[in-house]
Amino acid sequence: MIGKWFGSRSIITMSIYKAHLNKRIIIVGGGVIGLGIGWQLAKAGCIVSIYERNLAGRAASWAAAGMLAPHAEVHFEERALLKLGVQSCRMYPEWVAELETDSQMNVGYRAEGTLIVGVDRDDARELEHLYESQQLLELKVEWLTGIEAREMEPLLSPKITAAIWSKDDHQVDNRAMVGALTHAYRNAGGTLHENITVEKIEIVHGKAKGIWVKDKLEEADTIVLAAGCWSSDIDGLPETVKPPVRPVKGQMLALQMEEGIFLQKVIRAPRAKYPTDVYLVPKADGRLIIGATSEEMGFDTRLTAGGLFELLRGTWEAVPGIYDLPVIETWAGLRPASRDNAPILGETDVENLIMATGHYRNGILLTPVTAREIASLVLTGETSDTIKPFQLSRFV
Ligand code: FAD
Ligand code: GLY
Repeated sequence: MIGKWFGSRSIITMSIYKAHLNKRIIIVGGGVIGLGIGWQLAKAGCIVSIYERNLAGRAASWAAAGMLAPHAEVHFEERALLKLGVQSCRMYPEWVAELETDSQMNVGYRAEGTLIVGVDRDDARELEHLYESQQLLELKVEWLTGIEAREMEPLLSPKITAAIWSKDDHQVDNRAMVGALTHAYRNAGGTLHENITVEKIEIVHGKAKGIWVKDKLEEADTIVLAAGCWSSDIDGLPETVKPPVRPVKGQMLALQMEEGIFLQKVIRAPRAKYPTDVYLVPKADGRLIIGATSEEMGFDTRLTAGGLFELLRGTWEAVPGIYDLPVIETWAGLRPASRDNAPILGETDVENLIMATGHYRNGILLTPVTAREIASLVLTGETSDTIKPFQLSRFV
């Protein structure tokens, strides 16, 4: 087990890791982030317990579309986040191979690429700005005419006049990944406590000692806080150590694709004059995931007529053929957003308390890099250059 995880790491690093075997780790939250870290640490020989107040992976990690889109979802001012996203996206093929081997499950990783389309003239102008930013950031993207875009994806509307082709933006089936991570984690010896709420983190003289569950103190050497958009709500954290994360609601729906209306690529359609940009993410089992609104509504997860209307209008204008497809599911999820849209990773002022939260719109994309880097931090005590820019201390 251990040998495989260390892979190409040096003998010296291995011996540092071995010194930390049998370390007791508690992870608060069983989403992709908690499960990913737990899997890596259990494989390295730690005694890991994940506490999840519902079923594992059924919050944001279930609600997501599974896009791995560092290039398409880029904002010019978020360069550090772009770098992290690109790094994690490149880790995906190896991550998936390891996860599928350990879980014996398929996670639906697909590398067909992403088309970002301009539905009307305003949208095409917005696309030009995005393309300019991508050029300045030296991203590998290509400008296409509407005809060229339709050659790649014939179901696109004839109204589409321009598109950006981003071949390095991929996708995974996030729900399948939740299942695989749960299996792989358990196969590696990790313990998953579902339907148990962590009520409090016990901190004594600036040192995290354990967690309170069901009026009992469970002690650990290290506690990893990975509770998504609820990460600041757990008792016991000093004000200065509460991660500034909030929920950002996303409404979604799924259609069942049928013969003749089967998309292959991820399609994104930013809408200049409408409140909601849309994306269409086809899955191998025939589901077409459509998202997403972006709403500051606290912890409200109700679906609204307006939200679903905007999603369907935007989708129909980009791909008119969806009109007759059956709607098979609607849902809303809460993205864990930090103040600067980037995750909060690494050590805190409280000894033995590590954060892995605030992954906002990119938590599925960022799972491999987060899991590997946080596992390495727990094992070695060293903060890598990769996660240094994302520590909680940047907000102080
Ligand atoms: P979660 O999955 O929310 O897990 C946190 C867990 O902590 C929950 O299961 C919760 O029950 C548990 N918890 C909370 N408090 C406690 C407690 N006190 N005790 C015990 N357990 C607790 N990202 C992408 O990369 N690509 C996408 O295409 C994409 N699409 C998205 C679409 C939507 C609509 C949404 C909402 C998100 C999307 N995301 C996407 C973002 C991604 O889903 C999140 O960033 C990621 O899932 C965060 O994972 P997490 O494990 O931190 O949080
Ligand atoms: N990354 C897609 C979303 O958050 O909706």
